[in-house]
Amino acid sequence: MYKTHACGSLRPEHIGQRVSLAGWVNRRRDHGGLTFIDLRDRSGIIQIIANPEISSESHQIVEEVRNEWVLQVEGIVQRRPKDMENPALPTGEVEVEVDKIHVLNQALTPPFPINEETEVDEMLRLKYRYLDLRRQRMQYNLELRYRMVKYIRDFLDERGFWEVETPILFKTTPEGARDYLVPSRVHPGEFYALPQSPQQLKQLLMVAGVERYFQIARCFRDEDQRGDRQPEFTQLDLEMSFVEREDVMAITEELFSSMVEELVPEKSTFAAPWPRLTFQEALARFGRDDPDIRFGLELKDLSDLAVDCGFKIFERAVESDGEVRGINAKGCGEYSRREIDELTEFVAEFGAKGLAFLAVDEGGEHRSSFSKHMGPERIQAVLDRLEAQSGDLLLFVAGQPQVVFESLGRLRVYLADRLGLRDPDVLAFCWVIDFPFVTWNEEEGRWDPSHHLFTSPLPEDIPLLDTDPSHARGQQYDMVLNGLEVGGGSIRIHDRGLQEKVFKLIGLQPEVARARFGHLLEAFEYGTPPHGGIAPGIDRICRMFAGESHIREVIAFPKNQAARDVMANAPSPAEAEQLKELHLRLVD
Ligand code: AMO
Repeated sequence: MYKTHACGSLRPEHIGQRVSLAGWVNRRRDHGGLTFIDLRDRSGIIQIIANPEISSESHQIVEEVRNEWVLQVEGIVQRRPKDMENPALPTGEVEVEVDKIHVLNQALTPPFPINEETEVDEMLRLKYRYLDLRRQRMQYNLELRYRMVKYIRDFLDERGFWEVETPILFKTTPEGARDYLVPSRVHPGEFYALPQSPQQLKQLLMVAGVERYFQIARCFRDEDQRGDRQPEFTQLDLEMSFVEREDVMAITEELFSSMVEELVPEKSTFAAPWPRLTFQEALARFGRDDPDIRFGLELKDLSDLAVDCGFKIFERAVESDGEVRGINAKGCGEYSRREIDELTEFVAEFGAKGLAFLAVDEGGEHRSSFSKHMGPERIQAVLDRLEAQSGDLLLFVAGQPQVVFESLGRLRVYLADRLGLRDPDVLAFCWVIDFPFVTWNEEEGRWDPSHHLFTSPLPEDIPLLDTDPSHARGQQYDMVLNGLEVGGGSIRIHDRGLQEKVFKLIGLQPEVARARFGHLLEAFEYGTPPHGGIAPGIDRICRMFAGESHIREVIAFPKNQAARDVMANAPSPAEAEQLKELHLRLVD
């Protein structure tokens, strides 16, 4: 063994003991004939002291060493002189006076500092990921992720779940992205698809009588990398038989609320049950179906007050099936015209044609882009609706509902960031339920499932599939954390007839449906229990627990935004021989 102790484990109780340690040189300092080294391993840092009077050979070696060299040292733990203690380090009361040092490996000067938290270009970090991962923050993230997965396994094991592995080489399991295809060598011209999720397989495990399944499952989606997305990512994939929506939601709440307490006790969260919002309510109050509920600034509907209000822009919006909604930016009444113009530019990115404003000054005077067109009574009604007080800034968007929600929903979060209202120490989970079952795809002229093909409509809405699909609601639930969708699930269809009806509704020809999903339809005829499940995204939840700004920070070897591994340079061209074996020819 190279070490008797971990570097970070030494305390005053070890004083007088002879120890052997191994790790990386975090920093070296020369001081009045003595040389000090901060030796680092995964557990932390310990100060090593090389005294030429104790061992001139060791002292000579440490003269040579540089940051990130790998050393093994032996020596005696001793108390640091009183004025040399370092309360910032857990090992700060002691040091190790060494008499033997072995250089296990030398190191080039790293392309960025490992021993301090400096801003480093992300491309450089990804290229040298093995060095980036040595840094303290990334070690914390790796460990946190491991603890999350272990917590999940223990929690679900206690509740009778089995972890079952499902194939990676499979057939299309669509979740709304493109498939990654893998050509078959033994079956010329045929391809496996990597699963976008194990959705069909977990449903088949319910048919197989597993009743309670989970898997820490890798999923593959060829999609736009914007936001918190990676081409491959990890879900806690979970499915249960003989359950209703409430059952799946309850176990998910218990799992994650208790996990916060256990793993990140410094953060606060809600105990179960988490707040629930219908899709309509989430849009109406927050402008989004993934709301951040840590702060107010909620949207208010003013469409009724816009009718004949005198301000043409508002009037025209409601006359053409549009809406007028506003938010009260509390305490921003002093914003200058330039600042309001900036906000106007911000909402323009999301299609808003303008941003009307009304600043309520101290003493009840108003500064406004529209009040001269509107009578005092109507203005008072607007102020009341937005619960305006002096010092507030009211902001309004008029237009088609989609644009109004998108622009005000974004503006709400933008303002909250400016005002420091998004408390990083709060983990605010909520559910969004009662989504529309299908949405109209204008481009393709057909209905798309809002969740996926296998979600069941609410039983009372099944007749609407024939008469008015736009008003049918699905048994879907989205799990949202601080404004990010972190999980999705649903009660599934378990009846062949209803599944075929849904395939037909979304325009899947019966032959295509049979070719793609025949195995599932057939399975439904052999005694399928009612079932449902969920898939919380491990990367996204871990990112939030770690307080990071992107999921790449909690993935050991992520791809960059162009879906490339810049360390290994993947993807890369295949050998001509490989292509031949796979019966593939490249076209320009
Ligand atoms: P869904 O497609 O909503 O549902 O995905 C569930 C969760 O997986 C995470 N996620 C991603 N994370 C990182 N990168 C991506 N590209 C990515 N795509 C999705 C999100 C998301 O909320 N089979 C269903 C679940 C079910 O019905 O049980 C499914 O996959 O956190």
